Amino acid sequence: MSEHDELEALRDQVETRAYIDQALTKLFAPEDEALAAARKAPQQHDMPSIEISPLQGKLLQVLALACGAKRILEIGALAGYSGLWLARALPPDGRLISLEISEQHAAVARASWERAGLGDRAEVRVGPAEELLPALQSEAPFDLVFIDADKPSYPTYLDWALKLTRPGSIIVADNCIRRGVPLREDSESSTDPATAALYTYDQRVAADPRLLSVALPLSKDDGMDGFAISVVRAVAPAEG
Ligand code: DHB
Ligand code: MG
Repeated sequence: MSEHDELEALRDQVETRAYIDQALTKLFAPEDEALAAARKAPQQHDMPSIEISPLQGKLLQVLALACGAKRILEIGALAGYSGLWLARALPPDGRLISLEISEQHAAVARASWERAGLGDRAEVRVGPAEELLPALQSEAPFDLVFIDADKPSYPTYLDWALKLTRPGSIIVADNCIRRGVPLREDSESSTDPATAALYTYDQRVAADPRLLSVALPLSKDDGMDGFAISVVRAVAPAEG
């Protein structure tokens, strides 16, 4: 193939991916006003725009319904965008508890949920997650745990997710793919704490006999990042 043809083919591929993403979002995950406002909130409050994509939000809802979620734990609220998708998957007597280290971000998240009429079932607790998690044992088990916070703590958050769930619960973690970097063998000894921790997270959920897991490249920009999704097993798999 000539260089010109290669470029043409690549351009087609890129356009196709962008088209598919757009079309799927329009079909399966259109945003109403509350979601659109929650997505725009970070720009208006000097926060990073690192929320999940609408299709990832819809996937969280699919998973929440699949496990009959009445109690959901989110680690990392940011502006409340993913929490809004999650809270909407709850029945009226359900509860979303979202942990957020920043008081400012927590206030933006609360406003996002109140605007959507979900103030009664979605709650944000402010502080470092590692300090807030032990108190949640009295409110466990959670049916779904969504981890989307500081990356170096992901292995610790996985330990807590395992303590706070039941067989059939679902544990989802964002940013487990990150352009493939945490999947490299040498990332185990990376000097970047986020890379080393994401490596550990991926390796652990792939191998832990208490979990059945997969990771899917699915993110808003280019599909180069995505979720690791784990179901807590009722019984360990048979050997061999
Ligand atoms: C970052 C964090 C996220 O949770 C995310 O989805 C994207 C980027 C970050 O810290 O850069
Ligand atoms: Mg994230």
